[in-house]
Amino acid sequence: MIDSGCAGLSARPSAVPAEHVGRDHVFRTPTIDDARAVSALIAASPPLDANSLYCTLLQCTHFAGTCVVAEKDGALEGWISGYRPPDQPETMFVWQVAVREGARGSGLGVAMLEALLSRQDPSAPAWVKTTVTPSNEASRRMFARFAKRRQAQVFEIAWFDQGQHFGGQHESEKLIAIGPL
Ligand SMILES: CC(C)(COP(=O)(O)OP(=O)(O)OC[C@H]1O[C@@H](n2cnc3c(N)ncnc32)[C@H](O)[C@@H]1OP(=O)(O)O)[C@@H](O)C(=O)NCCC(=O)NCCS
Repeated sequence: MIDSGCAGLSARPSAVPAEHVGRDHVFRTPTIDDARAVSALIAASPPLDANSLYCTLLQCTHFAGTCVVAEKDGALEGWISGYRPPDQPETMFVWQVAVREGARGSGLGVAMLEALLSRQDPSAPAWVKTTVTPSNEASRRMFARFAKRRQAQVFEIAWFDQGQHFGGQHESEKLIAIGPL
């Protein structure tokens, strides 16, 4: 018999409180029920890799504390996934950022980053790290804008290589570190 009261087995909070209210958007922690809409947003946001729905379900559950959804009038408009690398507790690694095409260019990407970093956390990250392809101008400018707001430095090194690591199937990804925050 399954004991639904077993510690750690509660499915989800009954209501999802807004954590942060932006100019037009509400920012909150994702839940298991957001995963399909998040997957659809990622699929509609090239050049992001379309991850499996299972991957997104894990992000919306195990990694929900380091992910953000942005909603406008109840509709999903933005998503950030991240995690704290186990061997780098001072780092928030930002995996993917997606903003609905019609909502781009008005600061939502940077606002979601700020919402992620504004969560109550006794071990607040000192660094934001991410990877970007050299050709992704929008992503580069979004992270540059964030660094400027935070008066932080930006460091960039080669990391995942097109030939060596991606087997020629993906543009190289540079590792960007922004900090100290
Ligand atoms: C990258 C992305 C998340 C940015 O979201 P956004 O809400 O439009 O970003 P912001 O409005 O906060 O923009 C911040 C900066 O990026 C610039 N920018 C936004 N879209 C741009 C574009 N298409 N081309 C060039 N610069 C762009 C803005 O002008 C701003 O720069 P500025 O402050 O120097 O003027 C969004 O374009 C997107 O979802 N792209 C597809 C997925 C992707 O590439 N994700 C990033 C990789 S993880």
